[in-house]
Amino acid sequence: MRAVDIIIKKRDKQELSGPEIEYFIRGYTAGEIPDYQAAAWAMAVLINGMTSRETTDLTLAMAYSGETLDLSRVVSIALDKHSTGGVGDKTTLVVEPIVAACGLPVGKMSGRGLGFSGGTLDKLESIPGYRTNLTTEEFLQQLAEDGLVLTGQTADLAPADGKLYALRDVTGTVQSILLIASSVMSKKIAAGGQAIVLDVKVGLGAFMQTLDEARSLARLMVDIAHLADRKAVALLSDMNQPLGHAVGNAMEVREAIDTLHGNGPSDFRQHCLEIASHMLVLGGKAETDTLGRKLAQEALANGTAWERFKRLVVRQGGDVRFVEEPQRLPQAPLIRMVESPDSGYIERIDAREVGETAVTLGAGRARKGETIDHAVGIEILHKVGDFVQAGQPLFVVHARNEADFEAACQQLLAAHRWSHEAISPLPHFYGVIR
Ligand code: URA
Repeated sequence: MRAVDIIIKKRDKQELSGPEIEYFIRGYTAGEIPDYQAAAWAMAVLINGMTSRETTDLTLAMAYSGETLDLSRVVSIALDKHSTGGVGDKTTLVVEPIVAACGLPVGKMSGRGLGFSGGTLDKLESIPGYRTNLTTEEFLQQLAEDGLVLTGQTADLAPADGKLYALRDVTGTVQSILLIASSVMSKKIAAGGQAIVLDVKVGLGAFMQTLDEARSLARLMVDIAHLADRKAVALLSDMNQPLGHAVGNAMEVREAIDTLHGNGPSDFRQHCLEIASHMLVLGGKAETDTLGRKLAQEALANGTAWERFKRLVVRQGGDVRFVEEPQRLPQAPLIRMVESPDSGYIERIDAREVGETAVTLGAGRARKGETIDHAVGIEILHKVGDFVQAGQPLFVVHARNEADFEAACQQLLAAHRWSHEAISPLPHFYGVIR
């Protein structure tokens, strides 16, 4: 076999066989197929597509390109969740302790933020001492003993995807539903989760801008999961405006803690309950979403989810005083509220613009490997559909200095749009793909 023949075949819109896909992925991971050939192949796939069989073969080839975890050795069913990325999305911090409190083991490997979209690891690292680099042995031992793990991806998990994703990022080939689905699912399959809830975001602050695209991605990921013998369900959720109020690492941890105490913004709480309810159904703890939601609500109300979160922090080396007294988490030196310049119904709070502003403040990274500022961020005080009077608080900026505050303020005002006509609130969810 030769890499060039595989590229030509895809260029000419032909279907690749399983062995051809495996040869290509194995060769690329081993460094025998160079970046320029992989880039040409990725572009051919982006333009000409793949069948669902090819997509599954690609996913499995990437999943088995490195270490794979067999969690059935340590627990009878391990639950996992995955979000396709959003702004203010701190759902994992609340949902995983809820599900663990309801008696289902949760083992999750999370990622870092890139661009306007935040990442769970960065949020967790605002808790001093919290370790996000557990070894595979530590991951398995903690899952067996504690039933809850939240760490970073080990270097050897789906290395083909790591390499290919970095290449796609600089060759204009990220935006392929087939390549996104196989990239996400290769990591999920390698990480060993047996039942996975996929939170597929749609809207201004998401990879998928339209409902049709989001639905196709969700359908494909669920099908791949089933073909790989995993249970999966996908929820299509709104990402036109930020989720909850807080956008920024330590600020999002504080909001998650608030929610674990039964408070927190209503949209965020509803979001967490919905995701948790589907995880509880997939894991066999509840027969219906409604019963799952009831269990999840109880775990918040009786404090067991909060206790699980604290135990997680302690187990992974974090200083629990910082979550017991969240005001001790990093705080920016300049915290200033900004008033609404206009009266009217809020028509748009552009999630992408808000995410970009958080990056400008230092909360995110434009390039892989950059350091971030855990203290800075934004509180968006309203939701689409709210009526605000001119002079009423609109948002709060947490900045390092005056110049950063001014820049953020301009960006955030531009992200808001007012209407004189009444505006309906945005839905939280657009559907479920089973
Ligand atoms: N997230 C991933 O993990 N992979 C993609 O291709 C896009 C988003």
